[in-house]
Amino acid sequence: MKIILLGGPGAGKGTQGDFICAKYGIPKISTGDMLRSAVAADSALGRTAKTIMDEGGLVSDDLILDLIKERTSESDCRRGFLFDGFPRTIPQARGLEKVQLAINKVIEISVNDEEIVNRLSGRRLHTASGRTYHVKFNAPQSPGLDDLTGEKLIQRDDDKEDTIRNRLRVYHEQTKPLIKYYSDIAIVDSSLDYITVDGVGSVEEIRRKIFLNL
Ligand code: AP5
Repeated sequence: MKIILLGGPGAGKGTQGDFICAKYGIPKISTGDMLRSAVAADSALGRTAKTIMDEGGLVSDDLILDLIKERTSESDCRRGFLFDGFPRTIPQARGLEKVQLAINKVIEISVNDEEIVNRLSGRRLHTASGRTYHVKFNAPQSPGLDDLTGEKLIQRDDDKEDTIRNRLRVYHEQTKPLIKYYSDIAIVDSSLDYITVDGVGSVEEIRRKIFLNL
């Protein structure tokens, strides 16, 4: 199963992606997590990406496509994978087609901008695993600590209100056109399912709505 999760920043792609990956036994490929690992490792890619990410902009399409080609050639992707945060532009979607990784499902999680600002300002992250929590809506069992490892949770540098607003602007300009792009393809290509889910509601409600369509 090869799945793309589409949605704005904070729409719940990471949260729901974990459930879908567990159901199918496939890896979650989050370009955001990959870039944050590169920043933490202070690699050349990380240094290039950091300033762009801190401002809420997008890293270049070529760099992202190289990361994706390398990651999807690893053995754990043989049974499929879920893309979280990729593709994010029309050129990335076209680049993905050239690699011929036939996608089965595009799942769009739709959430309004004000809800997104509320969610992201309360988000907490377990860096090593990518598990996400929210101080109110999806709280860890012990405040500030990851449920599985007990390690400390952090707040992302780009989860400040000004940066969140910029990420939303970039989403509306560059990523939202992918909704039409993929829904148009699904109309003429029966091997691709396009699914839209209203992403406002509890984490469990959204999970159930997505699973009804899987
Ligand atoms: P990335 O890490 O992909 O960030 P994003 O797309 O902005 O998405 P988020 O991770 O912020 O949100 P999410 O939808 O996963 O929501 P989550 O489940 O965490 O990218 C970061 C940056 O990297 C980009 O800005 C860009 O610079 C760069 N980048 C990455 N990919 C790129 C690409 N392909 N091309 C170019 N640049 C790229 O949920 C959010 C919060 O809400 C959490 O606290 C969660 O607990 C809570 N929550 C989840 N569901 C619910 C619910 N139903 N109700 C209430 N709260 C909820």
